Amino acid sequence: MESDTPQIIIDPRKFSGQVAVITGAAQGIGEVVSALFAEQGCTVILLDINKEKLEQAEKTLRSNGASVAHRICDITNEDLVRETIDEVVRTFNKIDILAHLAGIYPAKPLLNVTTAEYRRIFQVNMESCFFLTQAVLPHMQRRHYGRIINTASQTMVRPVRGLAVYAASKGAVAAFTRATATEVGPGITANFVSPTLISTPTTQAGEYQKVLFEKVVEEQCVKRVGLARDVAHAIMYIASPEAEFITGQMFDVGGGSFFH
Ligand SMILES: NC(=O)c1ccc[n+]([C@@H]2O[C@H](COP(=O)([O-])OP(=O)(O)OC[C@H]3O[C@@H](n4cnc5c(N)ncnc54)[C@H](O)[C@@H]3O)[C@@H](O)[C@H]2O)c1
Repeated sequence: MESDTPQIIIDPRKFSGQVAVITGAAQGIGEVVSALFAEQGCTVILLDINKEKLEQAEKTLRSNGASVAHRICDITNEDLVRETIDEVVRTFNKIDILAHLAGIYPAKPLLNVTTAEYRRIFQVNMESCFFLTQAVLPHMQRRHYGRIINTASQTMVRPVRGLAVYAASKGAVAAFTRATATEVGPGITANFVSPTLISTPTTQAGEYQKVLFEKVVEEQCVKRVGLARDVAHAIMYIASPEAEFITGQMFDVGGGSFFH
């Protein structure tokens, strides 16, 4: 039977005149978020450490007519984050939206995780939120406008073996974002998305992935695999001017997996 699902309408003027910085933009969810902002008229600044993939992502967007630039930036480097954000503001006059998608999620039994690995996970996932928020917020406060969007994970509330440190880092991101919302000031919001298992190049790699996706889909109300575009659409709403009354909140992008 054919579905009666209405078409999703993308308005190319939706974010026109706005500037978004997207981290983790070289691949996966960040790349799709960048494309959806660009499709809706936003100028997108792509941040990542993967030079080759980042340049490719920029090229693809530009060939589709996007207003796009990229910056190689290791988000664990505090000075580099600040310099990059300041330079982007000098070049593009402002940052309306920070969509922070970069993250790592290496799976390993807890007893095998080294201290160095533990620290790296917290640096990439959590410290980066601190650096990016501190760098971007003063610029947003000057204009009394901004949307800060971080990325947590449902693993922080639905435990998964091998991801204890990752889950803890995302729990920290959630708490940090909620608390940040109390200090940002007028016109600025801070929220976070909390996706379930989403199909991206990283989650599709590995022999256990098929079983993992089947198990997760079984637990969802919506019986299909989560896509990067599902997360991107949630982010488009949080990033919009009309979401001005919603801050400090978690946006659960999980196909209803809490209800089982
Ligand atoms: N995919 C999922 O199932 C899922 C579920 C819940 C939450 N998340 C979160 O969503 C975000 C994106 O996930 P994804 O699956 O698209 O990941 P991905 O691995 O496909 O892409 C992550 C990107 O982040 C970049 N990155 C990593 N370390 C960096 C650093 N130090 N500086 C700058 N960039 C860096 C990588 O180069 C890569 O391009 C992550 O924060 C992840 O924790 C993903």
